[in-house]
Amino acid sequence: MTAPAPATGNPGDRPHPGHLPTTAKIAYGGDYNPEQWPDDVWDDDHRLFTRAGVDTLTVGVFSWSLTEPTEGAYDFTVLDRILDRAAAEGRRAVLATGTAAVPPWLAKAYPEVNRTDFEGRRHRYGQRHNFCPASPAYRRLSTALAGRLAERYAGHPALLAWHINNEYGGACYCDLCAEDFRGWLRARYGTLDALNDAWWTTFWSHRYTDWDQIEPPSALTEHWRGPDHTAFQGITLDYQRFMTDALLGCFTAEKEAIRAHDPATPVTTNFMGAYRPLDYHRWAPHLDFASWDSYPPLGAPPSRPALGHDLMRGLKDGAPFWLMEQTPSTTACHDVNPLRRPGELRLATWQAIAHGADATLYFQMRASRGACEKYFGAVIGHAGRDDTRVFREVAALGEELTALGDATLGARTPARTALLFDWDSWWALEISDGPSRLVRYPDVVHAYYRAAREAGADVDVVPVTADLTGYDVVLAPVLHLVKGDLADRLEEVARRGGTVLATFLTARCDEHDRAFPTDVPGPLAGLLGIRVDEWDARPEDVVQPVTIGASRHGARLVFEIVQPRGAEPVATYGADFYAGTPAVTRHRFGAGEAWYVATALDQPGVDDVVRRVLARHGLIGPYADRPAVETAHRVTPDGTRLLFLLNHAPEPAPLTAHTDATDLLTGKRIERGAPLTLDPLGVAVLRLQ
Ligand code: GLA
Ligand code: ZN
Repeated sequence: MTAPAPATGNPGDRPHPGHLPTTAKIAYGGDYNPEQWPDDVWDDDHRLFTRAGVDTLTVGVFSWSLTEPTEGAYDFTVLDRILDRAAAEGRRAVLATGTAAVPPWLAKAYPEVNRTDFEGRRHRYGQRHNFCPASPAYRRLSTALAGRLAERYAGHPALLAWHINNEYGGACYCDLCAEDFRGWLRARYGTLDALNDAWWTTFWSHRYTDWDQIEPPSALTEHWRGPDHTAFQGITLDYQRFMTDALLGCFTAEKEAIRAHDPATPVTTNFMGAYRPLDYHRWAPHLDFASWDSYPPLGAPPSRPALGHDLMRGLKDGAPFWLMEQTPSTTACHDVNPLRRPGELRLATWQAIAHGADATLYFQMRASRGACEKYFGAVIGHAGRDDTRVFREVAALGEELTALGDATLGARTPARTALLFDWDSWWALEISDGPSRLVRYPDVVHAYYRAAREAGADVDVVPVTADLTGYDVVLAPVLHLVKGDLADRLEEVARRGGTVLATFLTARCDEHDRAFPTDVPGPLAGLLGIRVDEWDARPEDVVQPVTIGASRHGARLVFEIVQPRGAEPVATYGADFYAGTPAVTRHRFGAGEAWYVATALDQPGVDDVVRRVLARHGLIGPYADRPAVETAHRVTPDGTRLLFLLNHAPEPAPLTAHTDATDLLTGKRIERGAPLTLDPLGVAVLRLQ
């Protein structure tokens, strides 16, 4: 097999606009595995699906061992029946290729298909998501299966979309992957001199004189204490890029096999939001539409899943995405699995739609009887009842979505604020030795995202290669690596009157994680009008007071010592030998401004700074004084402006309407200045006049 070439998705490529499945309303349903059940259960299922307004079923996700019980012997009996039944019931299917869990016969016949882990252990057959992306047998058999499925079902009346594999992820460190890695490096660098330079190998006597000397960075080679501790950031970064491309190669190979028989049906794979191991921006151009599985961390504020939605919407240049999975009630994969409270499912579903989802689907339609997901929430539980609280909530939502029809389909988010999200920076920051391992990329990004969202701004979360010309505000939190022409494009944002905001540990290194041989912050120093020579890092419990105008906030973790070089101080440190020096600066640049936040401010501090930036552009929303009330806009293809209001509090939210509107959920007309009260966990979808 040939080594995967470095993916074309990054940098420089423009994301391709989406090609979404065509539906008459928001697709509603979820993962359905009737192959686990006898016929009479199928009858019950479809009766209940009709009652719940379910029109879309994701099928075949884990069917490989049924569809191909021995190598090359395909048996489509069960899938035929599942799809024919769906069609007969007027439902559509998202058909999975089923290649995420290999059957036992395959692993036995071709042991190379089993992954080798970070510690160098070759695994034996077990679990799922367990295939080596470089395995020729896996590639041959997975594409053969995808091709056979496409050949058989391309024109099937139930077929709505293709779902390749499932939640691609993880990594392999086997000899086949090592060989492919070397091929990938040759394609990327051309010469060993270029590679040695990029990885800075003269440090610790690492100059490579033959490609064969290069080993994957693992616990057996460059790493200690796990994946975040590496002697050479350059090789570890490249392995993450390579593994992203290697798994992407599995996806594109299956997609090609499908396309040989089915030129048109949209193809996706279900992503996991802000998932560190895979750079989804490298994948985005290869998907027809983006879809993802939202399982917010325990106790997460609502801005966490919102960030996931906006990141996923940013993959296809703002086109709508699909929420491929969420739980109707509870997960099973955590140590402790809380239940979604009454009303929380509805609110989470409307939140997804508010952020651009044109489908909201569940994992799972009926609970598995056995194995590790038997307690994972399902629309239909083991008893098959339709009078449970969860079923009733699912059915009520189904009714609401049916009534809404196509009112939100294809609508886009009119954001004037962009937040740059960069997997390279995420990786580089978290594998860095110094200044602090306590800085976590998603936490800092989330703090800035949350501040903008709670102030009422719509936010596009975009790759660093995105076109920035349409934005008033560009946020670049902890953007550790600055690559390509980004510095010029950020300067352009400020020059024409926009505002750029960067933070500590931004613009420290180039694409290979080599420090810029200039003043910090490297290529952004001119734009930001500052110079940083020193930085202090302290344990989590050390809080530095920071004063902004009349407000006092706390700052932690990293304290950069900023020397203004044209910028003016906005906030200052209140303690230690750098007391009185700037913690936040603003630099007038062209017709605009560039802000720098030199430390990890607490959330009120981030809110304070971000609101000052947004205010300059009139981007503070009408309900910004109500942090529990989330707002999000979408504009439909015919130009209708929609405003979603989401009350995340368990108490009513009395508001005063800021404009005339009609609530699409109640049909009620709302006059500007009139009271508008959201129920506890309540939602309004306003069509603005
Ligand atoms: C993931 C997978 C599903 C299922 C759910 C629940 O999102 O895609 O197959 O395992 O989680 O754990
Ligand atoms: Zn491998």
